[in-house]
Amino acid sequence: MEVVVALSFAFLVFPFPSAVGALSSNYYDHKCPQFESIVRGAVEKATSNDKTVPSGLLRMHFHDCFIRGCDGSVLLNSKGKNKAEKDGPPNISLHALYVIDNAKKALEVECPGVVSCADILATVARDAVVVSGGPYWEVPNGRKDGRISLASDTRQLPAPVFNISQLKQNFAQKGLSTKDLVALSGGHTLGFAHCSTFQNRIHNFNATHDVDPTLNPFFASRLRSVCPAHNKVRNAGAPLDSSNLIFDNAYYKLLLQGKSMFSSDQALLTTPKTKELVSKFASSRKAFERAFVSSMIKMSSLTGGEEIRRDCRVVN
Ligand code: HEM
Ligand SMILES: *[C@@H]1O[C@H](CO)[C@@H](O)[C@H](O)[C@H]1NC(C)=O
Ligand SMILES: *[C@@H]1O[C@H](CO)[C@@H](O)[C@H](O)[C@H]1NC(C)=O
Ligand SMILES: *[C@@H]1O[C@H](CO)[C@@H](O)[C@H](O)[C@H]1NC(C)=O
Repeated sequence: MEVVVALSFAFLVFPFPSAVGALSSNYYDHKCPQFESIVRGAVEKATSNDKTVPSGLLRMHFHDCFIRGCDGSVLLNSKGKNKAEKDGPPNISLHALYVIDNAKKALEVECPGVVSCADILATVARDAVVVSGGPYWEVPNGRKDGRISLASDTRQLPAPVFNISQLKQNFAQKGLSTKDLVALSGGHTLGFAHCSTFQNRIHNFNATHDVDPTLNPFFASRLRSVCPAHNKVRNAGAPLDSSNLIFDNAYYKLLLQGKSMFSSDQALLTTPKTKELVSKFASSRKAFERAFVSSMIKMSSLTGGEEIRRDCRVVN
């Protein structure tokens, strides 16, 4: 009895013991009631003009969170000799940053100095999924913006040539599990890949195979025609999945058919546990959506900043 009382008392005093300074899903309800609608409006407006906006926003949030936590560091401009993340090597598909700028401008008018750029980025990523037909979830907010952005930090991002042990290790360094890895890779249901990111699979794959033999041969030859060995077309590439404007589970179905873009996608089929998850998500869109939402909330809770930036591209 005493133990029960003591425990429930502790619970009242510290309702969320690990949540000191943590995020909450109604963070802006009173601080900035227009937050959700302004952000959503910015995403919808931009998407109606450019269908590639949602994929850009989703990937940008992932990059933000994997470097110094979700602190908006990916948004900062290079300054003087300091080359920012944005200008680091894997920046090839970072785009749609103007959507964050537009939302921030409108938010500074309604609630000046209140909304962090990191929260805007986390929330536009959710809205990017929603406008693409994917699931809705409440985004925990209350992040702060960071003051550091280094191009050299982009080495911490997983590379498309990673094998399964490298991927698992990379995610584990961020406190993310193997299930998170498989579920979040489903982000590749949206968007586009440039030739350079899957070149390793379609030319000089290894000593015995010019083309990755795990690729469907027809799919591989199509990729080879878009991306010849000495590709000169700057923006050439291919959609990440056949319905790349729709947030669905087609990525997993295609993966099982040898129609994935990156070695890192294919790697998910190389251990029994990850393969089982791929099959589960391929056969149930609901199961994928549930797992994706839960892993997104986990990833987007990696925080790190210290201020509310006035302009998302420069520190205060
Ligand atoms: C598992 C490790 C991952 C690797 C190795 C990886 C790698 C890549 C690469 C190389 C591209 C193509 C970039 C280009 O050519 O422009 C890409 C695109 C993309 N990735 Fe990932 N990614 C990973 C995880 C994720 C995660 C966790 C998400 C989000 C939840 C994500 C979302 C996207 C999206 C939406 C695109 C398309 C971007 C666009 O069309 O602009 N990726 N990824
Ligand atoms: C990517 O980096 C290069 C230089 O490294 C820079 O010229 C380019 O503008 C950057 N792209 C984006 C989208 O920031
Ligand atoms: C993955 O790649 C690393 C680095 O090249 C290598 O040491 C490791 O043995 C590879 N693991 C698997 C499962 O292929
Ligand atoms: C090339 O890759 C294939 C498929 O992964 C593999 O079976 C083969 O042993 C590899 N060859 C060499 C020389 O590594």
